[in-house]
Amino acid sequence: MRRTPPNVVSCFLLIFPLIFPAISGASDTIEAGQSIRDGETIVSSSGKFELGFFSPGSSRNRYVGMWFKNIIVTTVVWVANRDLPLIDNSGMLRLIQPGILVLLNATNGTVWSSKSSRAVENPVAQLLKSGNLVVRDGNNDENDGQENFLWQSFDYPTDTYLPGMRLGWNFVTGKETSLSSWKSTDDPGTGEFSFHLDPTGHPQLLIRRGSAVQNRIGPWNRIRFPGPPNPREDPTYRLTFVMDEEKVYYRSDSVDRSFVSRYTINQSGVSQRWTWVDRTRGWVIYFSMPADICDTYKLCGSYGSCNVGSSPSCEWLDRFVPKDPEGWVRADWSNGCVRRTNLSCQGDVFLKYSGIKLPDARRSWNNAKMTLNECRQECLRNCSCTAYTQLDIKKGSGCLIWYEELIDSRTMSQDGQAIYIRMAASEAHSGGKEREVVLIASLVSVMGVILLGLSLFLCIRKIRKNDTRLGTLGKYKYHEKHPDLPFFDLSVILKATNHFSDNNKLGEGGFGPVYKGVLEEGQEITIKRLSKESRQGLDELKTELIFIAKLQHRNLVKVLGCCIQKEESMLIYEYMPNKSLDVILFDQTKSRLLDWQKRFHIINGVARGLLYLHQDSRLRIIHRDLKASNILLDSEMNPKISDFGLARSFGGNQTEAQTLHVVGTYGYMSPEYAVDGMFSVKSDVFSFGVLVLEIVSEKRNRGFSQSEYSLNLLGHAWKLYKDGRSLELVDASLDHKLYSPEVVRSIQVGLLCVQQNPEDRPTMSSVVLMLGNEGEIPQARQPGFFTERDVLAGQNSSGMNATNSTNEVTITMPEPR
Ligand SMILES: *[C@@H]1O[C@H](CO)[C@@H](O)[C@H](O)[C@H]1NC(C)=O
Ligand SMILES: *[C@@H]1O[C@H](CO)[C@@H](O)[C@H](O)[C@H]1NC(C)=O
Ligand SMILES: *[C@@H]1O[C@H](CO)[C@@H](O)[C@H](O)[C@H]1NC(C)=O
Ligand SMILES: *[C@@H]1O[C@H](CO)[C@@H](O)[C@H](O)[C@H]1NC(C)=O
Ligand SMILES: *[C@@H]1O[C@H](CO)[C@@H](O)[C@H](O)[C@H]1NC(C)=O
Repeated sequence: MRRTPPNVVSCFLLIFPLIFPAISGASDTIEAGQSIRDGETIVSSSGKFELGFFSPGSSRNRYVGMWFKNIIVTTVVWVANRDLPLIDNSGMLRLIQPGILVLLNATNGTVWSSKSSRAVENPVAQLLKSGNLVVRDGNNDENDGQENFLWQSFDYPTDTYLPGMRLGWNFVTGKETSLSSWKSTDDPGTGEFSFHLDPTGHPQLLIRRGSAVQNRIGPWNRIRFPGPPNPREDPTYRLTFVMDEEKVYYRSDSVDRSFVSRYTINQSGVSQRWTWVDRTRGWVIYFSMPADICDTYKLCGSYGSCNVGSSPSCEWLDRFVPKDPEGWVRADWSNGCVRRTNLSCQGDVFLKYSGIKLPDARRSWNNAKMTLNECRQECLRNCSCTAYTQLDIKKGSGCLIWYEELIDSRTMSQDGQAIYIRMAASEAHSGGKEREVVLIASLVSVMGVILLGLSLFLCIRKIRKNDTRLGTLGKYKYHEKHPDLPFFDLSVILKATNHFSDNNKLGEGGFGPVYKGVLEEGQEITIKRLSKESRQGLDELKTELIFIAKLQHRNLVKVLGCCIQKEESMLIYEYMPNKSLDVILFDQTKSRLLDWQKRFHIINGVARGLLYLHQDSRLRIIHRDLKASNILLDSEMNPKISDFGLARSFGGNQTEAQTLHVVGTYGYMSPEYAVDGMFSVKSDVFSFGVLVLEIVSEKRNRGFSQSEYSLNLLGHAWKLYKDGRSLELVDASLDHKLYSPEVVRSIQVGLLCVQQNPEDRPTMSSVVLMLGNEGEIPQARQPGFFTERDVLAGQNSSGMNATNSTNEVTITMPEPR
């Protein structure tokens, strides 16, 4: 019946004149004791609305309802007894004392009645100009205001919102006013779709199917609910939003009373605003929700972002990656995305994402008084806080904070807002799409800057005064370019290491001894002391200083500062209680500490750290000496890559270079590097592959012996892999059986990384994805250097330190200049 074309309606009226009464009473009221029968109606004084009995569609049931009187397309806007139909036309709507409307059937049984909490002496039922059927005290004025009505149909809407209605909640009575769809065009009964103002967290408009959310509009930003139904400024409407302890509601009023419009939710869950156009005698859709696929609630999962402009529509927010990349490719976006760099809580930053529809705010927290800066501090304080934004875009104030994964956001070209999302500190500097970076200003960092300035000043002075050799360092001007690298005084280091006592010595690195120290404040540190003899080492140290100062990632060892004084050059790192990976991994007893889960965690961590070096850090950095002894472990066995002394940085797109100056460690070096001096990120990938196989097998690649064959670890792993016996690579005592798919996957990724041809090797970003997913991984080809002899024949190994207990030594071959 609704929206039936005019000619059909007219025929209908001719054939069944009783269904819609041709004659209507002039009155807009029903007095106490009076009634209207089927066939009689009342009409609002404006002549706009009419109330009476009707049958919807092809149904023969009778309902009491309200429709537009002067609109040729019969449009029912309200139904009294929507779930309780009358079966014949003997119904009667009566107002009884002390102010209740009752709908009686043929036997005078009550089919439906209005409720009232109050009694008045002289009740009157009246159909107001707005289309609100009210029961009020006849002794009062009709314009008394909604609070004084005994009952009003505006509190019990069906599928239609009319201007002036309050959609929302009365917290005192616990009553909600919401819309719900008809069951069908023949049945106005309560259908499955409903339209709500949901005040949980921060008010939003929700379309639900049953209890499940289908679409979301909002959250309220003090001007409108951003999203299609409230597109920018609407001159025909005045919006009112009221929120206090007792109530929250949303109300819109037509500016021009002659303007006819309504808002509905139909049986397919589409909510629409309609406007009557007299000239064409038809309803025109002013807007519709959902408007496009991106209005589907949570389509792209957590941290996904829907963009209708792109195909497929789901994207991940910048600096996030899909949780299930395989599924993502198959357009299964429900698993959503995760930060590509995990949060560490301390020192996190916030990045600004603009032009988006704010995420679901049902579990958010807000404060209207806070400034944006206070909001950031509040969010920073609590590690479970994921994002914040402005609450009130009108005043530019207030605070809205999320404590959970962000869901259901989309890009919006016009009505979008900005949100500040919590990110690991390293993301602030790493490449991504253009984003404004908001660094967290804390007292600590302010103090840090002051201390830094002071130590820099002292350090520079000392460099100038004390040491001619260090004068050459001056040409690097690193102290000016890299003010984020603090300098330690030698006396502090001497005290911390007990004058470099042997008790404090941790081991011997490529360029000299490594010590443990304890600063006066109790902080434990690691000191890498450049050996005095090693002229070569100073250059390496300089490089390391400059690069390292710029790098920050949870899987890279953190540099605290340096000390360059007198004959001494030192790097100061955070202390790693579990030493380096080789110490644990290749020790029969200690390696028991590393169950499979820890190993997998280490593999993943190293992969992320390396990915950061290769792609995400400001400079593209190739480590060139990745090996087990350069992987340090913190107290929780989190891996940290150390020793960037050999790192080379490339500007621009340069990814490959040739050098005469071969540095690295046998066993980890890729063929093209060891033999031809060609290095690229793929050389690091090779070393990573070796490392993975070592972690899995607990065996060193170099020094691995298999009496039957002259195979090294790579060759051995490859052979087992070809025979489908990969799991035999793992020590039988390791509790890996539970995780065998993960183990097999790691071995396969490891073998992919050590393939002969650099182009066949995956990039670190694919490695990270492959390690994390359950899906298909390409078959590996034969590794480079798969027998021991390949490599070392023809290589002069005299540069190796013979006294070293392991055969894993960083070698350098100085280039002639
Ligand atoms: C119903 O009520 C009306 C008015 O009170 C009365 O005239 C009529 O007889 C009643 N009908 C029945 C079936 O009781
Ligand atoms: C009238 O309504 C009453 C109460 O709902 C019901 O018991 C009765 O059967 C109805 N009579 C008819 C004729 O529908
Ligand atoms: C609801 O509205 C949409 C959009 O106008 C329309 O495509 C759909 O057919 C409607 N559903 C029903 C049951 O009328
Ligand atoms: C952080 O916020 C969550 C969610 O509001 C709360 O449950 C938790 O107690 C807060 N933690 C702290 C330390 O304030
Ligand atoms: C990042 O966090 C996820 C979820 O807590 C965890 O599974 C994963 O191991 C973490 N990654 C790192 C490198 O810590």
